[in-house]
Amino acid sequence: MAIPNGFSTMPFNPEKQPVMLSRGIELLVAGKATSDGAGVKLTRVLTQDLQRRLDPFLMLDAFGSDNPNDYIAGFPDHPHRGFETVTYMIAGRMRHEDSAGHVGLLENGGVQWMTAGKGVIHSEIPQQEEGVMEGFQLWLNLPGRDKMSAPWYKDFSNADLPKFVTESGVAVTVIAGASHGVAGAVTRDATQPLYLDLHFPASARFEQRLPPEHNAFVYVYRGQVSIEGTPISAQRMAILRNDPDCDGVVIEVDSDAKVLLIAGMPLKEAIAQYGPFVMNTQQEILQAIKDFRDGHLGEIAGR
Ligand code: FE2
Repeated sequence: MAIPNGFSTMPFNPEKQPVMLSRGIELLVAGKATSDGAGVKLTRVLTQDLQRRLDPFLMLDAFGSDNPNDYIAGFPDHPHRGFETVTYMIAGRMRHEDSAGHVGLLENGGVQWMTAGKGVIHSEIPQQEEGVMEGFQLWLNLPGRDKMSAPWYKDFSNADLPKFVTESGVAVTVIAGASHGVAGAVTRDATQPLYLDLHFPASARFEQRLPPEHNAFVYVYRGQVSIEGTPISAQRMAILRNDPDCDGVVIEVDSDAKVLLIAGMPLKEAIAQYGPFVMNTQQEILQAIKDFRDGHLGEIAGR
């Protein structure tokens, strides 16, 4: 094939190619104020009614408060089965313990990635009596074939997370997937999650290529951004349209902003959820409840 004038013969690297046509916004979502655990106040950004639309993601909670009454009791011992939890701590300190013997302290921009698989019981308890506690918990589904896999867990300190700065000054933390040729802390074949934390300086833009069939959304947690000319203010999620003509997303800002960009390949499987259990069928849910009641999800050492 002839190479047109002005084009180089550099090897094709899709991660480094610019986005030719950005996805637009399908829906802006404010989230719902709720509480979970032992009364932790939070905003459920990705709610159960959006699970099919945002497959493979099941939930996104944002928590942030400088009032200890909103968070101090934390999330005492509770079970999970059938999916993965990704906790990203912006401010504050949270201690994690689980029935698989894992203990960790999550703080200052660290990430805890936990694959519940066939089941764990864990607790997430704040390690502070005052100050700001802020972060996010994302639930990522597992394909049916992996729902009963062995639990897995890893803590990443902020220093462990891959990072880069774009030419326009956007500081990018790659929690999962890959961006601009930088591989993230975690990759998953079945769902191919992309999880980026983007810190924009004023008048910056960020381009990310996305496969058109992957479901994608952004959550703005500081400032305001715009996509295809539509503004998205703080504490809003924008679901990005799946358009076969679009090869990614372009996010622009006028002034400083912080944004999560999350995308993944849909599993297209049935979703059956009962609280902390997410399986494919109601029968599997009943089995999960029975296994939990019978003590088969184990217990946290020393309880
Ligand atoms: Fe949990």
